[in-house]
Amino acid sequence: MGTVTYLVQVTIFDHGCNPMKLLHIDSSISGGASISRHLSAAIVTALIEATPGLEIIRRDLDADPIPHLDHKLLPTIRPDITTGTAIGIRDDKGATALDEFLSADIVVIGAPMYNFTIPSQLKAWIDRILVGGKTFSYSEAGPRGLAGGKKVIIASSRGGLYAPGMPYAANDFQEPYLRAVFRFIGIEDIEIIRAEGTAFGPDHREAAIQAALGDIASIVAAPAPERIALTA
Ligand SMILES: Cc1cc2nc3c(=O)[nH]c(=O)nc-3n(C[C@H](O)[C@H](O)[C@H](O)COP(=O)(O)O)c2cc1C
Repeated sequence: MGTVTYLVQVTIFDHGCNPMKLLHIDSSISGGASISRHLSAAIVTALIEATPGLEIIRRDLDADPIPHLDHKLLPTIRPDITTGTAIGIRDDKGATALDEFLSADIVVIGAPMYNFTIPSQLKAWIDRILVGGKTFSYSEAGPRGLAGGKKVIIASSRGGLYAPGMPYAANDFQEPYLRAVFRFIGIEDIEIIRAEGTAFGPDHREAAIQAALGDIASIVAAPAPERIALTA
């Protein structure tokens, strides 16, 4: 009897039967020398390998920054506190950033520590993502996150040592801030891949990078079973 070979492609779909989308964001200003960019790229590569059909959306906040929210742009997200005329005001980059975020199932963010917090480029992006009526709402019961169901993976790099238990842990306004931001809009699935102490000399820096790269496999877990569909 002959052997029949079937070629089966496994594609990961979201609940609406669309391919899963990953939004890949970087915010370091160090270009090719950036550790957080190196880590975020490694995370995305691992996720692509683990998730056939994964669609990638790329946003480099250094190469193509989103302007800071100012009095001219505020009416686009807060018409209720507009002081001047809002007619004709558009925030195309901000609107696109929000659409990208809302459409993504997984968000990978390269986020170095700058002056104990995140790069201002990343803050400008967050100012377009935390939008009332889109990603959170307020009622008499308090705030409610509207963006749950996504996975956020943060590639964190910092010159000093701030992990829990370290002497300067209280100065960490980077990772706890990012956790607070995403929890506020309803996202509980938050992972952090961290290289810290990168300013402690080349050996420490290399060891920190290798340790972070080694942690990636553990967080690139198989997607939830209900998201897997088989197509022949
Ligand atoms: C503008 C700037 C501010 C920084 N501020 C801090 C800081 O407050 N604490 C710290 O530990 N490292 C600080 N660093 C060091 C970076 O966190 C460290 O070099 C990290 O690896 C940078 O990530 P990147 O290579 O992805 O840009 C700063 C670096 C820059 C460029």
